[in-house]
Amino acid sequence: MSQFQDKYDVIILGAGAAGLMCAITAGQCGLRVLVLEKANRIGKKILMSGGGRCNFTNLNTTPDNFISANPHFCKSALARYTPWDFVEMVNRHAIAWHEKGPGQLFCDHSSKDIVAMLAQECSQAGVEIRTRCDIAQVEKQGDFQLQTSLGNPSATNLVIATGGLSIPKMGASDFGHKLARQFGLDVLPLRAGLVPFTLSGTELEHWSSLSGVSIAVEAQCTAARFMENMLFTHRGLSGPALLQLSSYWQPGEPIYTDLMPGTDAAVWLEEKRTSHPKQSLRNALAQVLSKRVAELFCNRVLGTSVDATTALTDLNREAMQNIAKHLNQLRWKPSGTEGYRTAEVTLGGVNTDEISSKTLRAHKVPGLYLIGEVLDVTGQLGGYNFQWAWASGWCAGEALAGNAQAA
Ligand code: FDA
Repeated sequence: MSQFQDKYDVIILGAGAAGLMCAITAGQCGLRVLVLEKANRIGKKILMSGGGRCNFTNLNTTPDNFISANPHFCKSALARYTPWDFVEMVNRHAIAWHEKGPGQLFCDHSSKDIVAMLAQECSQAGVEIRTRCDIAQVEKQGDFQLQTSLGNPSATNLVIATGGLSIPKMGASDFGHKLARQFGLDVLPLRAGLVPFTLSGTELEHWSSLSGVSIAVEAQCTAARFMENMLFTHRGLSGPALLQLSSYWQPGEPIYTDLMPGTDAAVWLEEKRTSHPKQSLRNALAQVLSKRVAELFCNRVLGTSVDATTALTDLNREAMQNIAKHLNQLRWKPSGTEGYRTAEVTLGGVNTDEISSKTLRAHKVPGLYLIGEVLDVTGQLGGYNFQWAWASGWCAGEALAGNAQAA
């Protein structure tokens, strides 16, 4: 037996961050809203985000924090629904939060608080939510008509909010991208972002013993640079600096890390040699890199050319230059990334040329809206992806309500 009413104003596919925000906004304006979710519960990615504390926004959000083939697309939504608008909702629900990095807001207790808040807002707005719902078919014959495992609902409007491909074991899939293509929309190539790098061969053999060690670096590839921490893993390199870089990195290109960010290593070495001539190279480096990293750096970079126990005063000019160069610009050749298995986001997605930046409606399909990560808008690390989900969801909800009033 069907669990649905005869007809809805809007059906939203996906009860994630963007879908729930859109549902709340449209529901509060009196629209009959149905949210269909494939998983057994709503907001699963919110629950696992921010190490369980959900980095729910970033107060310093600007369009520059986003990657998209059209960098202007996100501007309208971000300007109309700001981080403070979301903070207002969080405060209204008395959810305690704190600022961790610059502008990065996290829950004091748990991501569950954010999901509970969204669920309560949905309930107050009269939104119907169905979980464990498999959608077999979506057709547009005037209205949108769906065939699902729970019945066959229809609606005037359809919102695709099915997110990206990251963490497939949680149910992420390309359903939304396929559906967009079914309606004739262009989808730009998809790629894992905010994802650890993998190393291979001798490079991995050499550095993987540092697995778990974190150091401050400036990491760089052709298109971007980030000053943050780098974490050695048993597969390669991770940590905020490298996760950020992964969204800009092109397969095959090398990356460089400055192990002494903000310091000219040549000048530092020269000064060390003057002040502590008898100190060994290894001990000098241990003061800035830690003992373990210094040890491996010496073995890897200097090889047999210079003994790490050599006193600074005995290093010749060529060796000094070589060491300094590698300290400020250590080259890595990633074999790839860990892919969607551990990625936080999906780069690429539905081409924003197909969508109105103000209403999030598809230009060529009346009543079809796309929001959140399924679109080709990807935020940097630090709460920006949720802010895009809230903002795009809110704008679509407003547009749906505006349309209904006008009709
Ligand atoms: P989201 O993925 O949230 O929701 C999509 C929903 O659609 C899911 O519930 C999914 O099950 C459902 N769905 C998929 N296919 C379906 C189908 N066929 N039928 C019905 N439903 C379907 N961002 C940030 O700003 N701060 C942070 O702290 C973090 N932390 C973080 C940690 C980890 C481990 C990950 C993987 C990601 C993050 N992110 C993040 C990124 C953030 O989670 C992500 O960008 C947003 O959740 C995107 O919101 P959406 O609503 O677009 O997709």
